[in-house]
Amino acid sequence: MHDTRYIDRYLPFLQSLLTPSRLQHSMGVMRVMADLAELYNLDREQAVVTGLLHDAARDLPADRQMALIREGGIELADPCEEHPVYLHALAGAYLIAKELGITEPNVLDAISTHSYVGNGSNFHSCLSWCLRFADILAPSHEWKGMKKLKSVVYAGRKEESALLHCGWVIEYFREHDVPVHPNLQSCYRDMRRRVPVDEHFFDRW
Ligand SMILES: [Fe+2]
Ligand SMILES: [Fe+2]
Repeated sequence: MHDTRYIDRYLPFLQSLLTPSRLQHSMGVMRVMADLAELYNLDREQAVVTGLLHDAARDLPADRQMALIREGGIELADPCEEHPVYLHALAGAYLIAKELGITEPNVLDAISTHSYVGNGSNFHSCLSWCLRFADILAPSHEWKGMKKLKSVVYAGRKEESALLHCGWVIEYFREHDVPVHPNLQSCYRDMRRRVPVDEHFFDRW
């Protein structure tokens, strides 16, 4: 199956919404999702479509994102979700359901929770975690810690990858004055308790 068919299908929609660099990022996330679909036994079509569409609302102005939230009757669980870094995920899932007729709950949930908002039943699904990993592993950015995350993700070590991802996002948000969502803090605490890693696990980023 060629992923270009999804690019062809959704390109006009994405071009109307995204900056060229965001579109590049989205295609990069799509390609990483294709890799991860194989590694983590995901449905390939769902994985690549989720990657391609995950940031549909990211470049909309904050007031347009908020208008979508209101239109969709979406309740924000925490005041920090008004920040676009969180809001675009909720707004984007609503937008692709509305404009593209995407209905698969796991796809919509993966997109709406990729910034750690919400607490739906698919918050911890493999598709949702893979999207969070792919969002960082897409080659459009050279994030600190990316090499380590890549090696752990591509080794199929999902739990350790999730712990690394969550810890890294918290650190990144703190450095950039983005409010840390309570879900991030509780996820991190929970995984520190559950995932057996040695004390130097984070040192080797
Ligand atoms: Fe995003
Ligand atoms: Fe993204």
